[in-house]
Amino acid sequence: MATIRDVAKLAGVSVATISRYLNKNGYVNEDTKLKVQQAIKTLQYEPNAIARGLAGRKTGTIALIFPDITNPFFAELARAVEDVARMYGYTVILCNSDNQADKEQTYIKVLKQRYVDGILFASYNLRSDDVEALKNEKIPLVILDRAPRDASCSVVSSKHLEGAQMAVQHLMDVGCKKIAHIYGPQETVTGRERFIGYEQSVKHLPWYSPSLVEPGHFRVDGGMAAVENLMQRHPDIDGIFAGNDMMAIGALKKLQRMGLSVPDQVALVGFDGIDLTLIVEPEITTVAQPIYDMGMLSTRLLIKKIEGDIQEEQTHLFDVNLITRGSTERKRTDE
Ligand code: RIB
Repeated sequence: MATIRDVAKLAGVSVATISRYLNKNGYVNEDTKLKVQQAIKTLQYEPNAIARGLAGRKTGTIALIFPDITNPFFAELARAVEDVARMYGYTVILCNSDNQADKEQTYIKVLKQRYVDGILFASYNLRSDDVEALKNEKIPLVILDRAPRDASCSVVSSKHLEGAQMAVQHLMDVGCKKIAHIYGPQETVTGRERFIGYEQSVKHLPWYSPSLVEPGHFRVDGGMAAVENLMQRHPDIDGIFAGNDMMAIGALKKLQRMGLSVPDQVALVGFDGIDLTLIVEPEITTVAQPIYDMGMLSTRLLIKKIEGDIQEEQTHLFDVNLITRGSTERKRTDE
């Protein structure tokens, strides 16, 4: 297999000239171009993508690191990232960190060695010094979804706190008199901001008690366990806001197993807007994030960074919207 050195020797030029020609990042006169093209043809040289990456760090690949491959939210995000990346000639390496910081650090190390052109982080273990280290290594990155709010790089997310307030307000609008919250991991900015949105909406109300919240770990089984504990503590709960759709699906399953009707006895709202909320009965009202748009924008921002379009680090927060469905369509009892 011919190497870049073989081509340089045959063309009678330096390896640097070949690298400039291949990566289009420097002047090569027409005469030299012809000699290089002829040498590449004669030797049937295939520039090694990694080697090319070493020269101009242009491997045509980006990486997406996300925390939970089993959650459809991240599948939809990955779909958008791949669609946009492919449009611009990039391939995507998908990295599932399983919410584990050490696994994420391993990915970062491997990706640096593979010279990917840029990294999208949809995770939350990324510390500010990680961001600084990657920036010092000149590896373009964009954080999406669970960004630390003090991140010194571009962030794409949605309005979690406002979305939580919309969920609680809707439950009140359909007549709920005692509303509980199943919250996501508080080390994630998404879980924490939705918790704050719930608390700000209810903590001044006479029925509020701190025992009206329960963790659900953003998982179906977490939503099921949370409902059991909440209903044991407060059998008169008639509204539940779950901090993501997977927990809402678990909550629905548990409520129905307990013989409680949704929405008439307990109304239920989720968060994310994943399609799974449509296949359960009743369908679940949810605060939908523009997942595909978030994936598209973050990928576009990353590719602009990779291709030298220096833009100041920005935070883009998308609006969310309430999609009302059967899990809150209650007959108003106080009408
Ligand atoms: O469902 C997974 C959750 O983790 C989503 O709400 C998303 O915002 C991410 O933070």
